[in-house]
Amino acid sequence: MSQNLKAEWPMNLGAPDGSLEAKQARPHDIGNDVVDPKRYYTQDFQKKEWETLWPKVWLLAGVTPDVKESGDFTLFTHGHEQFIITKTESGKIKAYYNVCPHRGNRICLTDNGSVNSFSCPFHAWEFNLDGSLKKITDEHTFHPELIKHRPGLTEVRCETLAGLIFINIDGRAPNLKDWIGLPEGYIENYEIEKMNVVRHVRSEWLANWKTGVDAFYETYHLPYIHPQTQGVMEDFSQVDLYPNGFSRMIVPIGVKSHRVKDQESLDPYQAAFLSEAGINPEKFVGTSKDVRAAIQKAKREKGRKFNLEYYEKMTNGQLTDSWATGFFPNVQIGMHPEGIFIMRFTPHATDPERFYYDNITMFRYVDDPSFTVPAWMGLPEENDITGEIRPEVEHVAAGINPELGEVLDQDVELVASVQEGVKSRGFKGPIWCEQEDRIRHFHRELDRYINQEK
Ligand SMILES: [Fe+2]
Repeated sequence: MSQNLKAEWPMNLGAPDGSLEAKQARPHDIGNDVVDPKRYYTQDFQKKEWETLWPKVWLLAGVTPDVKESGDFTLFTHGHEQFIITKTESGKIKAYYNVCPHRGNRICLTDNGSVNSFSCPFHAWEFNLDGSLKKITDEHTFHPELIKHRPGLTEVRCETLAGLIFINIDGRAPNLKDWIGLPEGYIENYEIEKMNVVRHVRSEWLANWKTGVDAFYETYHLPYIHPQTQGVMEDFSQVDLYPNGFSRMIVPIGVKSHRVKDQESLDPYQAAFLSEAGINPEKFVGTSKDVRAAIQKAKREKGRKFNLEYYEKMTNGQLTDSWATGFFPNVQIGMHPEGIFIMRFTPHATDPERFYYDNITMFRYVDDPSFTVPAWMGLPEENDITGEIRPEVEHVAAGINPELGEVLDQDVELVASVQEGVKSRGFKGPIWCEQEDRIRHFHRELDRYINQEK
């Protein structure tokens, strides 16, 4: 039962080439740049991002389970812009600026909802689900010239992939499929379209959005900021860089960090993970090193018991480990067979030293009381897990604990403290090691946009 996890750098889980788990070769041209820290706090860099980055990329705007029926809508806020994502009567998912063409007022005022048509609260202009104009209030009082183009909602290019909805503001990005740098099947295998949002928290953090991305793109900080993870998580992750700024780290879960001397006795977290997998830790035959494989075996059996066919597409490692997947530029998804954990880092409308951290937890509901929500989701008990009631977005202002769990609480403090430091005259720019390759890869791609090479 013993597993072959060999924690040495570079970390390689040993999957064969061509497997979705396979270690990708480190690019030769990754370089040793030390970037100018001004990117983390200046208005100038923020302005450049609005000119050369945000309009050109595909932005993750929502998930298809939030727009199941025609008329369902969900809002996506990015800086000063806000978009309505909806499903039309013909079943197409479309995106519009959440702006009335009459006077510019916001049309939808709730994060999610369901309507027959969109109606502006200001003067009750109405729009069809396909964005076309339905009704102008007191139309006879408008000069016909002014409205002869029948002003409707302004559409934004929108495409979906494997349950994820993306928008492209300037409309000129390559097709979404070609733009996503991940191999075919990588996202599809999780069947995100069959999951439901079970929690959504949007908290404001006191840092640049990239300070946030950087912090979540490595596990190098785990032993120091999150020492409690050492008993159940390896902090040498397998780091993989994909085209177009995409990346992944596989964080082995169920094992003790190689830094922990005692690799025999069970850590309390390991015991809890075993229990969750249906194995009595008291009766567990094996050492700490055998836990990950035992959980994988139990989950494999569980997948078969509940006819979760998509589990068969997953490697054993995928059943326990976190495949933290970076979607350039501002999203990371922690991918697990039971559900996914979307982190989206969106810029503040005006302040380069604030961002919004969207946390969207999705769960694949199985109608059986023995199929429970994994503890790592940290789901409040009152939240519906069946997909019937979409939980409201919990908005949390800066400086208030978003209550996302102990590990994320530690990150909130850390990220604000890094933001303070990077502004100092004494700081000459980040020095990234190979464990931080994903950050380097992300900034290299970002620079291609900023320098208008893309
Ligand atoms: Fe962290």
